[in-house]
Amino acid sequence: SVSNEIPGFCAVGYGESECGPSSSSKLLIKGGTVVNADRQEVADVYIEDGIIVSVQPNIKVGDDVTVLDATGKYVMPGGIDPHTHLEMEFMGTETIDDFFSGQAAALSGGTTMHIDFVIPVNGSLSAGFEAYAKKAKKSCMDYGFHMAITKWDEYVEREMEIMVKEKGINSFKFFLAYKGSLMINDELLLKGMKACKSLGALAMVHAENGDAVAEGQKKMIELGITGPEGHVLSRPPVLEGEATGRAIRLASFVNTPLYVVHVMSIDAMEEIAKARKAGQRVIGEPVVSGLVLDDSGLWDPDFTIAAKYVMSPPIRKQGHNKALQAALSTGLLQLVGTDHCTFNSTQKALGIDDFRKIPNGVNGIEERMHLVWDTMVESGKISVTDYVQITSTECARIFNIYPRKGAILAGSDADIIILNPNSSFQITAETHHSRTDTNVYEGRRGKGKVEVTIAGGRVVWKDGELKVLPGTGRYIEMPPFSYLFNGIDKADATYLSSLRAPVQRFKAAT
Ligand code: URP
Ligand code: ZN
Ligand code: ZN
Ligand code: ZN
Repeated sequence: SVSNEIPGFCAVGYGESECGPSSSSKLLIKGGTVVNADRQEVADVYIEDGIIVSVQPNIKVGDDVTVLDATGKYVMPGGIDPHTHLEMEFMGTETIDDFFSGQAAALSGGTTMHIDFVIPVNGSLSAGFEAYAKKAKKSCMDYGFHMAITKWDEYVEREMEIMVKEKGINSFKFFLAYKGSLMINDELLLKGMKACKSLGALAMVHAENGDAVAEGQKKMIELGITGPEGHVLSRPPVLEGEATGRAIRLASFVNTPLYVVHVMSIDAMEEIAKARKAGQRVIGEPVVSGLVLDDSGLWDPDFTIAAKYVMSPPIRKQGHNKALQAALSTGLLQLVGTDHCTFNSTQKALGIDDFRKIPNGVNGIEERMHLVWDTMVESGKISVTDYVQITSTECARIFNIYPRKGAILAGSDADIIILNPNSSFQITAETHHSRTDTNVYEGRRGKGKVEVTIAGGRVVWKDGELKVLPGTGRYIEMPPFSYLFNGIDKADATYLSSLRAPVQRFKAAT
């Protein structure tokens, strides 16, 4: 099976019998602390043919079973990254990580599934789906798709239905920024939200006011500010707060759940918190860059360094990160993504004379599990069960694939990590698995190391060796009407009768 593998990714030292799809399909993880979102217990986990068969103490097995000792370590569901862009054409170039390299990076960092955004081709959803299905053939871990909606007509509406009913997509993203390319207006957003609601699909928004961003950018150029700092200055938090609030209010008007991607600022977070307090179903997704970085890197005089931090919405001033961590720890924000969207230094240099041309995006698919552990668990902000909740389980619930994913239960997929809380990690572009040549977390160290990753019942990461095969990842269809839709029809009925009652009273009185 060696010849099937990608050079550089074949682990030596496992023994060839374990190499490739014909590997031993029986696995026992012994003596670890098994953590789910609701509880933790010391137990063994027995796996056969990619599925968890049993979770209980002292499982006895025969000698045809590969045994992994997890004593003193945490055995947790593999991470699910709700927000990635692999092999995406964007801003005149294409992300450097494809479905193989991005997923290889993910697996080495403890993420076993991701949900990527299909971009329609000339507005056609089915053409976009076909293109992404093709790109994803080289997958080495399981993946799902969201889909962006970039224009509106009767075909788009019909295609949304096909995507949901036949293609396994249950979420659509609307960009309120990127004027002139992906951006849509409020009329389209409203139509899209209504279509989402009727299909039981989740509306997602990139919330920045794109018209105002364009104004801000023009102003910077007029002032002669052309470097990466212009990116930050041109799109302040107030524009993120405005768009987040607007999308939330329109979702309330339509009475459909809303998912706000990459919440980067206090302004946006507070809009979400306020809506949730009022009983609205709004999900807020911070991303690792927003949780752990601040904007200082964007002011680095070295363009290559500053440009690597350019993403939208921008990484904010110190203080926003801590506030987002706090919101995550108390449940005001619900899960963590990465927005992994990598461009190398050469690609970033497209904007050397004009920050508006720097391809937007940062890395994170490989670093998320470690950085969230170190920032949130190691620092004492959240429990280990909460860690599982925000890195895996809640994502599986929102996108309606729980408990197949996001849990260590009999019958669930065997996507599992073993994390050693006493070991440490260190991040550098020199050793990371992404194809990009920089890392926004360069030099970071922390406590807690993913020592083993098991994907679909196969040990793919162990002893610092990655053993992955293109074509082993599966497309995970995600059915509509997740828990977020429970009771929406009842709320609609109540709302309608609240509209009718005063009209009837008025008629009776006249
Ligand atoms: O800068 C970013 N976030 N790039 C990826 C596209 C998006 O907006 O999610
Ligand atoms: Zn091999
Ligand atoms: Zn976005
Ligand atoms: Zn994104």
